[in-house]
Amino acid sequence: MTTSDEVREKYLKFFESRGHKRISPAPLVLENDPTTLFTSSGMQPLVPYLMGESHPEGVRLVDSQPTIRAQGKNDDILEVGDSRHLTYFEMLGNWSLGDYFKKEQLEWVWELYTKVLKIPKDRLYVTLFEGDGVVEKDLVSYGIWKKLKVHEDRIFFYGAKENWWSRSGTPDEMPEGEIGGPTSEIFYEFTEVPHDKKFGKECHPNCDCGRFLEIGNCVFMIYKKTAGKLKELPKKNVDFGGGLERITAAVNNDPDVFKIDLYWPAIQKISKYFEVDYEDHKKTMQIIADHLRASLALIDNGVEPSNKQQGYVLRRLIRRIVVKLKEFKKNVEVGDVEKFTSSKVILAEVGKFNITLKKGLKQVEKIKNIDGKSAFDLYQSYGFPLELTAEIFEDKGQKIDLEEFKAEFEKHKNLSRSASAGTFKGGLADSSEKTTALHTVTHLLHASLRKVLGDSVSQKGSNITSERLRFDFSHPQKLTEKELKEVESKVNEQIDKKLPVKSSEMDFEGAKKLGALAFFEGKYGEKVKVYNVGDFSSEVCGGPHVKNTSFLGRVKIIKQDKIGSGLIRVYATVQNGS
Ligand code: SER
Repeated sequence: MTTSDEVREKYLKFFESRGHKRISPAPLVLENDPTTLFTSSGMQPLVPYLMGESHPEGVRLVDSQPTIRAQGKNDDILEVGDSRHLTYFEMLGNWSLGDYFKKEQLEWVWELYTKVLKIPKDRLYVTLFEGDGVVEKDLVSYGIWKKLKVHEDRIFFYGAKENWWSRSGTPDEMPEGEIGGPTSEIFYEFTEVPHDKKFGKECHPNCDCGRFLEIGNCVFMIYKKTAGKLKELPKKNVDFGGGLERITAAVNNDPDVFKIDLYWPAIQKISKYFEVDYEDHKKTMQIIADHLRASLALIDNGVEPSNKQQGYVLRRLIRRIVVKLKEFKKNVEVGDVEKFTSSKVILAEVGKFNITLKKGLKQVEKIKNIDGKSAFDLYQSYGFPLELTAEIFEDKGQKIDLEEFKAEFEKHKNLSRSASAGTFKGGLADSSEKTTALHTVTHLLHASLRKVLGDSVSQKGSNITSERLRFDFSHPQKLTEKELKEVESKVNEQIDKKLPVKSSEMDFEGAKKLGALAFFEGKYGEKVKVYNVGDFSSEVCGGPHVKNTSFLGRVKIIKQDKIGSGLIRVYATVQNGS
């Protein structure tokens, strides 16, 4: 059996040998991008470069990006259980930033799949954009596939719903400033899986019956929504993404993604301990295995279960594991879960959930007719995640008014969305004086890091409370003592200079021309605010900031961690601030 490690390495090496630079992926959890809680696609951290900015590592990039699809439009939590959907997965990605285009991409991906990964050609199908009156039918790619000897019976054309990619969907769904383009996708056919007519008369690559699996998506990223229309980007880019887990499943010719090495050992442990057969409880087992891996990844990224944002997603995943395990054992104790995970965070949450469940279930007994409102109250008072409440009621044979439930749920979602928008403004927990001061310090720190370590340092995340700032940035290794001292002194020097902090509004292009740092392009509107701290730092930012660095006390970097490959996190505090 081929392992996921082998597939990942073969992919990265293949593109390296074709001039790509292996870059470090962004953190899974984004802390100051107000548009999203998680990295949910490989291209997300590269948006500014796809829009035209030059990337420090060059025009050909390759990586493997951990991603989570568990929120908003990208919420796949309830899709898990069909042998191929995952909430957490690794996206293998390669990019051409205005360098090579369709010919090289399609030829290389074909060579990679058929020669390097040795997938038999007669298992592969490709799809293309059929055109929509604005963007033309992709006959260029059709010609390339034909030259590669892909038989025309294996080339399918689809509309924008299937063969257009942007973070927000079809061209119509793309908001102002969003980038996207037509795609050519690659599908693997599991010829052993019979077509299920429930999904349509004839099977085809985009049929959902499970016979076909999408294993690669070549996006020709060449458009940006501008004034309601698609406008060509300055450069023609390629954005390729392929799910590592799915490709591994295809390489092993197994339609069940959960049979690969990343899930199967855990599934075996669980099925042995609870004495249940995987084949008899496939869906439940898949949900447990998926949620377990996703939870561990979130925990690894510093997330703790809570009632909001990333923490809520983690809580929901862990609690759903417990609910699903109840299919095997009525009372799932912490000790049971300990048999297949040693994660203290998961075990503690299971303990908490058990207390909640006991209280909540007693409450459920008392309620005669469970309507949407009472389901929602259960969530609020007993911490029952809404989806779980619905599942448990269903299990108890209770009918709840789903419409009403959904309405309450939507109301809640909107509330939490606006709450998260508030909190995520610039990664600030609040707008108190101390937090504001640390926000200005963050700008000084960012500029100092770039002065000491070089311009390849770029912000990857920021989280500020009144106690401390936390700043994530790209850098290959931890800083030396000397570098740390140098950065710290640079920050304090600026504070001593009593520099004015001034903001001005301008359009985004103008801000970039003036050299303002802007690492979350795509989220900014047309007009942006640029904050300047003397001549030392210039950054696109929503504020708030102190008016003069004389308001800041002594800055001390208290800790640094390497939190991922090429990713450093520092913590700093301010002492004796006014
Ligand atoms: N951005 C595309 C996707 O996520 C290809 O990388 O599918």
